Amino acid sequence: MPRSIITAALPYANGSIHLGHMVEHVMCDVFARARRLRGHETIFICAEDTHGTPIEMSALREGITPEALVARSHEEHARDFAGFNIRYDNYYTTNSDENRELAHFIYTRLRDAGHVTRKASQQMYSEPLGRFLNDRLIKGTCPRCGAEDQYGDVCEKCGATYEPTELIDPRDAITGATPVMRETEHLYVGLSAFTDFLREWMAEGVPQEAVRNFMHTWLEGGLEDWCISRDAPYFGFEIPDAPGKYFYVWLDAPIGYIASTRHWAEQRGEDWRTWWGEDADTEIVHVIGKDIVYFHTLFWPAMLRTAGLRLPSRVHVHGMLTVDGKKMSKSRGTFIRASTWLRHLDADYLRFYYAAKLGDGVEDIDLSFEDFVARVNADLINNVVNLCSRVTKFLASRFEGRVAAFDPAEVPLCGSLAAGLEEVREAYERFDLRGAMRRVAALGGEANLFFQEAAPWASIREDAERAHRDCSIALHAATALMTALAPVVPALAGRYAAALGVEELSWAMAEPTWQPPQVTGPETLLERLDPKRVKALLEDAREELMTTEEKQDGAVESTSAGGEGTAPAEAEADRGAGLAKLGEEIAFDDFAKVDLRIGVVKEAGFVEGANKLLQLTVDIGHRDINVFAGVRKAYPEPEVLVGRRVVVVANLAPRKMRFGVSEGMLLATSAEDGAGLQLVHPDAAAKAGWTVR
Ligand code: 2FM
Ligand code: ZN
Repeated sequence: MPRSIITAALPYANGSIHLGHMVEHVMCDVFARARRLRGHETIFICAEDTHGTPIEMSALREGITPEALVARSHEEHARDFAGFNIRYDNYYTTNSDENRELAHFIYTRLRDAGHVTRKASQQMYSEPLGRFLNDRLIKGTCPRCGAEDQYGDVCEKCGATYEPTELIDPRDAITGATPVMRETEHLYVGLSAFTDFLREWMAEGVPQEAVRNFMHTWLEGGLEDWCISRDAPYFGFEIPDAPGKYFYVWLDAPIGYIASTRHWAEQRGEDWRTWWGEDADTEIVHVIGKDIVYFHTLFWPAMLRTAGLRLPSRVHVHGMLTVDGKKMSKSRGTFIRASTWLRHLDADYLRFYYAAKLGDGVEDIDLSFEDFVARVNADLINNVVNLCSRVTKFLASRFEGRVAAFDPAEVPLCGSLAAGLEEVREAYERFDLRGAMRRVAALGGEANLFFQEAAPWASIREDAERAHRDCSIALHAATALMTALAPVVPALAGRYAAALGVEELSWAMAEPTWQPPQVTGPETLLERLDPKRVKALLEDAREELMTTEEKQDGAVESTSAGGEGTAPAEAEADRGAGLAKLGEEIAFDDFAKVDLRIGVVKEAGFVEGANKLLQLTVDIGHRDINVFAGVRKAYPEPEVLVGRRVVVVANLAPRKMRFGVSEGMLLATSAEDGAGLQLVHPDAAAKAGWTVR
């Protein structure tokens, strides 16, 4: 096998590393470790993705330079990844000299080969901001699927990529102003010229059927020219022959894979072309989420091809992370940062769980905390870890930490292990980590059964030699299993290696003939996972979310609204008079249980025999519900409510009343004594069924 480069998608240099990122970085790390374990030279390359408007905007909000933001994120991200034992050979940055030079080089090749054209077009310009509105500064409705509030480059709902001008009802994302059109010139790469080449490359480079299907659709639909420039001001690299124009971040981001390799290689006195040159004997494996397939399977191979560089050998796509069945979300309190996890739980628990869930397909993977605890305890702790710790302790205490030789041909368990471990190695190669974990769990079951039936703690009294032999077989099984798990749980495997008197496990040690130098009883290899610790993690994550959100909101307000409208503190003497007392503090959990939705009133009328109530039919998006609301006094002519938006507590248990069943409550406002009672009416732009937060 040639030497290989594996890459994880470069994380954006704004925002924290969270459990969603970790899926991919764990996958790559496992793959790289599994290959190294087999003795294949493998480098794992990553970097910060630093350019573009969102990063510039984040820096602006914080009142720091983009460079300062990038430096801080780089340090934080590297620390988080190190905490999860993600062992990159280089974690670099796209804002580097190497990357600038490589971007210039690749662009020049594209241009000289006649693939770059210039076209003038009308683009959106924000007068209040004094700049053209790039992708992330425009929001509007997706032209393909109709999803609202989408950025100007790609729809997060349906994955469509488009030009910002194609958005329906566009707005400047910062001020909300409607943009004006202005003429500007841009540079485009003609992708359609690469159609045949891409079709050919994908037969090899894109092994997953589902991803090939995406590509087929794109190729059949015809590839459009790709705009690779953005107007100043832009945080990125200026285009050499187009002053005032900068490379679009997605041009230089993947080039960052090469730049990071180059930085690493040059530090070792190697030429980067021996890794990325057209004739280099290397395998290049990119692992990405399914949201960025377009960039990696169309633009990227086309760029590499034109530049005369090595093409990706394999682009492997994984699904996205959901938490308890839903997209990870700040409002649901399920957004968990990597650093928060590490304050509560060992990284290996998550690494193992991800491996147990990650097959080789593109389906999303779900982190369900109940399942997480059960799976870790059953398949990792009770199965493999307990065996490892019982056997080593027994050998250390009863046989002076030494193992006896045995003939593997006489032991069926040894045959199972040899065959099973080969399957595990193959599964790692396919990114079928779930398959690998299943195989290990099954082999663990066999090994435990062997140890239990051999019962050396009993047989030692009559036949010490046999007990020693059985323990030695069990130790071989434990070592083989832990070696198989080592790419997934490296810290745990390291502690086990220490208990055998070696620094690191290797496949040679999984052979039945291998004898460890000195077996000692380890302290604790890895504790059983206590659900209380998971609870504490979730509470911490929620709390952290609330405090950081507040900070961020404050920052937005101080730059954009300048504190306008805030009452000065000294004028507050009789503040609160006439208002109901503030309620008791509640936990975020309690609040999060309430599902508030926008409703649109379809019918409104009196209720016979009830002089305080109105009966309303309200469309809450999913369905119409019937509500009895005590607001008759405020609406003597209830029909004025028809068509108005209201806020509905949509998940309240239905209440049986004298006049019928009320299926929800409406938010209303009033003074303490009930004066000024009225329903809360959201802006008419809100649609039935929208969530209120
Ligand atoms: O989607 C993202 O998070 C991008 N920052 C990934 C870039 S991957 C590569 F092409 F640089
Ligand atoms: Zn869409």
